[in-house]
Amino acid sequence: MHLQIGNRKMYRTHTCGALRASHINTEVTLSGWVQKVRDKGFMVWVDLRDRYGITQLIFDEERTPKTLLEQAQKLGREFVIQITGTVIERSSKNPNIPTGDIEILVKELIVLNKALLPPFTIEDETDGGEELRMKYRYLDIRRNPVKEKLIFRHKVAQEVRKYLSGEGFIEVETPYLIKSTPEGARDFVVPSRMNEGQFYALPQSPQTFKQLLMVGGMDKYFQLVKCFRDEDLRADRQPEFTQIDCEMAFVEQEDILNTFEGLTRHLLKEINGVEVEKFPRMTFDEAMRRYGNDKPDIRFGMEFGELNDVAQHKDFSIFNDAELVVGIAVPGGNTFTRKDIDGLTDWVKRPQIGAKGLIYVRCNDDGTYKSSVDKFYDETDLAKWAAKTGAKTGDLILILSGETEKVRPQLSTLRMEIAERLGLRKPNEFAPLWVVDFPLLEWDEETNRYHAMHHPFTSPKPEDIKLLDTDPGKVRANAYDLVLNGNEIGGGSIRIHDRKTQALMFDHLGFTPEQAKAQFGFLMNAFEYGAPPHGGIAFGLDRLVAILGGQETIRDFIAFPKNNAGRDVMIDAPSPIDQAQLDELHLQLNIKQ
Ligand code: AMO
Repeated sequence: MHLQIGNRKMYRTHTCGALRASHINTEVTLSGWVQKVRDKGFMVWVDLRDRYGITQLIFDEERTPKTLLEQAQKLGREFVIQITGTVIERSSKNPNIPTGDIEILVKELIVLNKALLPPFTIEDETDGGEELRMKYRYLDIRRNPVKEKLIFRHKVAQEVRKYLSGEGFIEVETPYLIKSTPEGARDFVVPSRMNEGQFYALPQSPQTFKQLLMVGGMDKYFQLVKCFRDEDLRADRQPEFTQIDCEMAFVEQEDILNTFEGLTRHLLKEINGVEVEKFPRMTFDEAMRRYGNDKPDIRFGMEFGELNDVAQHKDFSIFNDAELVVGIAVPGGNTFTRKDIDGLTDWVKRPQIGAKGLIYVRCNDDGTYKSSVDKFYDETDLAKWAAKTGAKTGDLILILSGETEKVRPQLSTLRMEIAERLGLRKPNEFAPLWVVDFPLLEWDEETNRYHAMHHPFTSPKPEDIKLLDTDPGKVRANAYDLVLNGNEIGGGSIRIHDRKTQALMFDHLGFTPEQAKAQFGFLMNAFEYGAPPHGGIAFGLDRLVAILGGQETIRDFIAFPKNNAGRDVMIDAPSPIDQAQLDELHLQLNIKQ
C-alpha cells in the first residue's frame, strides 16, 4: 500500500512534526517509530515519532475496521510503521506540542519493522544509566536531549563554515596517516602492512600540514578536522575530538585575535542571540596571579588577594613559612555554617586537591571579624585581609598558603567549586577572554627538561630570545588561548618561519640536530623555500559546542563518544585482532599476564 509516484514508492507525505489545523481533512501518509500506545479497548491512540516531532494517531471502534484496530493493539514500543489516514481535529488539544491541534484517523497501517523492547525508555527523562545508553547509543540518539545536541552541533559547524568562508578561508583536508605531531599527548599509531616494522601516527593536530599549506601559498586555511590524542580522559576530553583548525599567512598576533574574536562573536550572536563587547585580554602571569589559573572563569568575582605582606608579621608559622598566602572573598559566605566550612576544609584536603588546611575569616554584619586564627591576628590585621580580597560585610574569606605553584591551582579549584555551589556559573551568560603571553617553555619534573608549553613551532617573543640561554623559563611566546566561561576552547600562536630559529628551538627542547632532522626535516626544508610569516589557532569544536549549549561535558554533543576508559562500548573497541592480521602487519604481541 505504499504511495506510488510513478514506479517509486513513497514512505511519507509529511513528517511527524509537520501537520497543523490547516491540514484538517487532508489525506496523509506518515512513517516513524511508535513512541507510545494507549489502548482503551474500543479506542487506541498511538504517538508516532520521527526526528521532526510527534503526531497522534487514532483508531476507534466506530470509524476503524476491526482488523485494523486489532493490528494497532498489537503494536509495540519502537516498532517502525507507516500509516495513511485523514487529518482530523483533536477533541482534546495538546498545547505543548506543535501538532497538538490534530490527530490522524488511520485507514491503513503497515509495520515496516518490529522492535524488541528497548533496554531503557526513549523519553526525555530516561531510566537508562550512562553505560547502557552508550551501549545502545542509536536508541539514545532517538531521545530529544541527545538528538537536539547533535542538531545544535550541526548548526554551529554550519555557522563556522559560513563565517570563515565569508572571510576568505579555504577548507583543505589534510591526511590522517602521518607521523608524530607533538601536542603534548601520546600518539595513536597505525602499523603499516607494506612497510614492515613501520608505523603511521594519527595526527594530534594538523599543525605541520597547515604550516606547509601556508608555505604553499593558501594564505587562509581552515578545516573541521578529527584529532587523536592518547591521554587521560575527562568530561571535556575525548581521545578523538574535532578541531576548527585555522592558519593565516602575513599576519601578526593582533590579526589572529581579531579574526577569531569575530568568529566567536558571530557564533554567540547567531547561535545564542548574545552580543558581546570586545573580548578582554589578560596575560598568563596576570591570570595566574588573579585567578590561579590560565583559563579563568570571569563571570563572577572572587579574585585572589595575596596576603603575604599583611599576614607574615605574627607568630603564625604556617603563614610565615609559606611562599604564598592567598585568599578569596566568598560573597555572602558568612551564612556558611561551621559544618559547611569543615566540609570545605575536608574537600580541599582531599588528595586530588592536596591543600594542608583552610583558614577562614567571617566578615560579620556589624563590621567585626571572626577567624580561625584569632589567636594570632587582631581586627586590624583581618581588616587588611578583607581589603586585599575585596571582602565586604557578610562575606567569608577563605585562605590557603604554601608553595605558589601548588596553592594557586588549589585555591582556583576551590573558587570554581564555590561558584558552582552558589550558582554563579550561569550557563547562559558568556564571558570570553583572551589569555596572551604564555611562557614558551615549561619545566617537566618527570623528564627533567623543558617542554614547549604550546608546541615546538611557536615563536618566542623577539625581545625575550636573549633569555633562552640564561633563563629559559622566563621566555614568553607569541601564544594565546581563547577562554570561554572557564574553559580553554582555543589555542594558537604565531609560528617560527625560518630554519635557524626552528633549529634553535629544537636544540633548546633537547633534540639533537639529527633527531630534529629525522622528525621535522620536511618542515625545516620547507622553511628554506620561501615560508611566509604565519600564525593560527585551533578551537576545540566539541568544547565550543558544549559551552554554547550551556554545558561542559562534551560527550553528549558527540554522536558516538568513547567512555572514560577510551572504549566504544557499543562496537566493543578497542578489541584484539586475529593472528593472520597480526602476521600481515608483522606484529608480535608481548602481553605480560
Ligand atoms: P591545542 O592543543 O591547544 O592546540 O588544541 C586546540 C583546542 O582543542 C581542544 N582540545 C580537545 N578537545 C577535546 N578533547 C581533547 N582531548 C582535546 N585536546 C584539545 C581544546 C584546545 O584549546 N595545533 C594547535 C593549535 C595551533 O597552534 O594553531 C593545537 O592543537 O579546546
